[in-house]
Amino acid sequence: MQPPYAHNPVRSVPTGKRVLLIVGGGIAAYKTLSLVRLLATDGIETRCVLTRAGSEFVTPLSLQALSGHTVYQDLFSLTDEQEMGHIALSRSADLIVVCPGTANLLAKMASGLADDLASTLLLATDTPVLVAPAMNVRMWEHPATISNVALLRTRDVMLVGPDTGSMACGEFGPGRLAEPETIRDAIVEALSASAPTQILTGRHVLVTAGPTHEPLDPVRYIANRSSGQQGYAIAAALARLGARVTLVSGPTNLPSPPGLETIRVETALEMEAAVQASLPADAAICAAAVADWRVAHASDLKIKKKPGAAPPTLHLVPNPDILAGLSAPGPRRPSLVIGFAAETDNVENHALEKLKRKGCDWIIANDVSPGTNVMGGRENRVIILTHSNRDVWPLMSKTEVARRLADRIALCLTDKVPDGPQP
Ligand code: CTP
Repeated sequence: MQPPYAHNPVRSVPTGKRVLLIVGGGIAAYKTLSLVRLLATDGIETRCVLTRAGSEFVTPLSLQALSGHTVYQDLFSLTDEQEMGHIALSRSADLIVVCPGTANLLAKMASGLADDLASTLLLATDTPVLVAPAMNVRMWEHPATISNVALLRTRDVMLVGPDTGSMACGEFGPGRLAEPETIRDAIVEALSASAPTQILTGRHVLVTAGPTHEPLDPVRYIANRSSGQQGYAIAAALARLGARVTLVSGPTNLPSPPGLETIRVETALEMEAAVQASLPADAAICAAAVADWRVAHASDLKIKKKPGAAPPTLHLVPNPDILAGLSAPGPRRPSLVIGFAAETDNVENHALEKLKRKGCDWIIANDVSPGTNVMGGRENRVIILTHSNRDVWPLMSKTEVARRLADRIALCLTDKVPDGPQP
């Protein structure tokens, strides 16, 4: 099977990269076997360290068979030390991955404990670390774990997951190990963070993201479920390709991505003003879920209930269509304008209709019906529709959608692939 990144001219999985995989103790440890296999498919070499608790769930033999290397288990093993000393082992990799990252391992990392091979390696290294946490929901939500994770984030430890769902222990909530494909994506992302060419240097790209809030009065507003994740990921991916990125964001809980300008707005009118003020741009990507209507006259004071009176009637007026405005012919039109079509039914037909109606160049269609968990979730399945092509992408993380889309935008802006699908 070809690695999904193999043919991308902007970026491929960096070759010759090595991952040191620390397998912690947890019921999800068995998924590391699939992860090692996926990494091998992408040409990434994996060496494994198995904690004592981890060895209760997977055998060193299976990890060794899949990785093709000795599995290290013991800090004081003469044989292991002869093959590769633990300090050298900790520095031999381009990335250390802790999977599953148990509450215990997170606590040891946060407090700098070094009482076994895994924790000693983690303390002895300056290699980037990615953790895929997995634990019972109460453990994940315990204040101790919350502050350990917060502390680790401040030290630039990367996290992937955990997912929310039913757990092996019968409880439901956050704490499930992310799927191996998602962890693989995060590993590739971490390994290629410095790998892409700065192909978009000198280009300005505008991205809208998140919902808009349309006030009814000072305390109430009309909103939607957009989390902003997809738009933020696209903005970050374009910045990594060297573009100057202006991200115009509605209200979200997401931190501003590093290396780009984020303009925070509340309403559709504010978003439109910020977009227009940010022109000219070489490309515009409208990922925001802009409210179609606003209340004609929002009240300056909180609307009060009056005993016996009917509920207030909302008089709605249409908001400007930011995407259609950007797409309209004129000297300030970006050379590439991309919209999103979030649909719950008849996805492709609605999206094609929007492509024509709004006059943009590409539309990214996605199904946001309730069962898909796309709105607010971390994965997306998209179809890229242009006026001459149709490209269906499989389900992947929003980060991976963003990276592929950024690469495709880069190829288009640099005239390498004008309009067509990625090879
Ligand atoms: N969009 C925009 N300004 C608006 C409404 C939508 O820029 N006032 C953009 C979105 O950012 C997205 C695209 O238009 O890129 C499609 O948005 P969507 O809400 O799916 O389409 P609508 O035109 O609002 O159509 P409908 O709500 O009927 O599906």
